[in-house]
This record gives sequence, structure tokens and C-alpha cells, in this order.
Amino acid sequence: MKSYEELLLENKAWAEERVMLDADYFKRLAKVQKPEFLWIGCADSRVPANEITNAEPGEIFVHRNIANLVFTNDLNLLSVLEYAVLVLRVKHVIVCGHYGCGGVRASMQPQTLESIDKWLQNLRDTYELNHERLERIENLDLRADLLTELSVEEQVKNLSKIPIVQKAWSEWNQPVLHGWVYRLSDGILNPISRIDPQTSPISDRLVDSLPDQKKI
Ligand code: CO
Repeated sequence: MKSYEELLLENKAWAEERVMLDADYFKRLAKVQKPEFLWIGCADSRVPANEITNAEPGEIFVHRNIANLVFTNDLNLLSVLEYAVLVLRVKHVIVCGHYGCGGVRASMQPQTLESIDKWLQNLRDTYELNHERLERIENLDLRADLLTELSVEEQVKNLSKIPIVQKAWSEWNQPVLHGWVYRLSDGILNPISRIDPQTSPISDRLVDSLPDQKKI
């Protein structure tokens, strides 16, 4: 485990190496960001979006929270989504969960932490919806893994109903929504769901109810 001083030293070494390889690297990066992807992932330290996809700084706009949940009244998530979809105009939004997720597991247990307990309600709703299928699995780790997949699918559906996404779909036919699950044991991403703008019915009522978006 590194000490915090080491993090700062490593940062210096990394920045120097970048400049050695490409003298204009930071100058270019500082000017503009034009990522094609928005990543909504779990806060788990073992699932860093850029590292596991071998992406460079500037390629992925990232939002992370416990158990990668999409609440339609989460101001933090909505602000990230609005900026990424309507201003940066990302082409893809990826909800990425992971097997062995502590948040998913916690939602299946008696509650002890007040804030997390409220946060995980979304997962408990998904559990309730699918409880017969889930309870056929006796192994609790495997049951949590299925709940992870079902939840990712549910979060992608939640995204598809948000007016920000509906507006982008009706006006420029993007972004595509993806649900992926990452396996900690082998580092592989498993794509499990996808919603394309062309195939999803757009609610005119939702689009009409949107205020004009201002550029941030
Ligand atoms: Co997690």
C-alpha cells in the first residue's frame, strides 16, 4: 500500500514521463475535452474506468457512486448526465456494475448504516421485483451477482426515461445506453444490456416538458 506522499511523487513522475513522450501533451489536454463516453460506475476502488478500458485522460467522462445507481432525482448524477449528454454530446452512456459488489451485497442484508441504507433502496426495489428468480439461487454470492446484473439493466432503463436522454434522442439520435458488468476475478467486462435511441419509444410529453437547455 502506498503512503499519500508516494501518490504525490508518483504523480510528478507520471507527468514528467508524459511530457518526455509528448511535449505538448498537457497543453493539448488542457484546451478542450471531447469524450465520447459517459461512465456511470461503482465507487469501488478496484473498478477504475480508465484503467480497465485502457483509455487515455480525456476519453471518458466519469460519474461514480456506491453500486452505480441511477436515481432520477439525484442532482449530482443529473448534472453530470446533462453536461455529458447535452453539452459534450457523448455518443455512449455506460452503466457499469461489478460482480462481488459490496453495495449490492449490503442491500440484501439487515441495514446498519443510515445513509447507505437509504441509498440502496433502489437495489431493494429491484430485488423485490425479481425475488422469486433470485431466491431460487441458494449461494448468496451468486444471488448477489444476479442482482447486480438485474440492477444494471434497471439503471439503464432508468436512464432511458430521464428527459435529458429523451431530448438528445429526439434531437440528434444519441447516445446509446449500455449496461456492463465487470468481473473482479479476471478483469473482463460483460455487456448485458443495451438501449438504442432508434428502438426506444420517445415520450413526446417528456420532451415537451423540458426547459430550453443553456450551455454550461
Ligand atoms: Co461496488
